[in-house]
Amino acid sequence: MNKQLQANMAHMTYGIYVLTTRYETIINGMIASWASQVSHDPPLIMVAVHPNRYSHGLLEKSGHFALHILAREQKDLLARFKGPDPELKFAAIAWHDGVTGCPILQDCIGSLECRIRQTLIPGNHTLFIGEVVETAFNGQQTPLCTLDYQGCYIGDK
Ligand SMILES: Cc1cc2nc3c(=O)[nH]c(=O)nc-3n(C[C@H](O)[C@H](O)[C@H](O)COP(=O)(O)O)c2cc1C
Repeated sequence: MNKQLQANMAHMTYGIYVLTTRYETIINGMIASWASQVSHDPPLIMVAVHPNRYSHGLLEKSGHFALHILAREQKDLLARFKGPDPELKFAAIAWHDGVTGCPILQDCIGSLECRIRQTLIPGNHTLFIGEVVETAFNGQQTPLCTLDYQGCYIGDK
């Protein structure tokens, strides 16, 4: 990627979310910023996930995901979801099983539980497009985004 393209990509702004999924008894959560609403009716959300992620296989097998909108004050929560051990990611925080089976974090602005309707592979990330089947809004706060975070995600590996 040339330097100007890289600089422009690095200046695009995104939310910073926690993406969770469950396949049978296996749960996981990862940080995701390449996420967007792509339709209002039906309500569709897209997440772009690299095939190297442990979550990728769980998304393919389960057909569901939950996207969590974090508050700006929750930046410290990201460290927890960076680690390799799914059990530690969910230890000592409040969560419950959603209608899709995905873990739903209780302390966040809100969550969007989705059933995957379409999977596209336009480049080095897989686009999982999910229809929102359940949602919770826990209260108005300023959402966490890449402007609050040093080191943006450029998606090269
Ligand atoms: C701010 C930030 C945003 C990220 N966004 C994405 C993303 O949209 N898609 C992706 O595949 N990885 C993204 N990552 C990288 C994953 O969170 C990281 O590889 C994680 O360890 C994957 O977890 P897993 O292997 O347990 O699924 C991001 C990382 C950070 C720090």
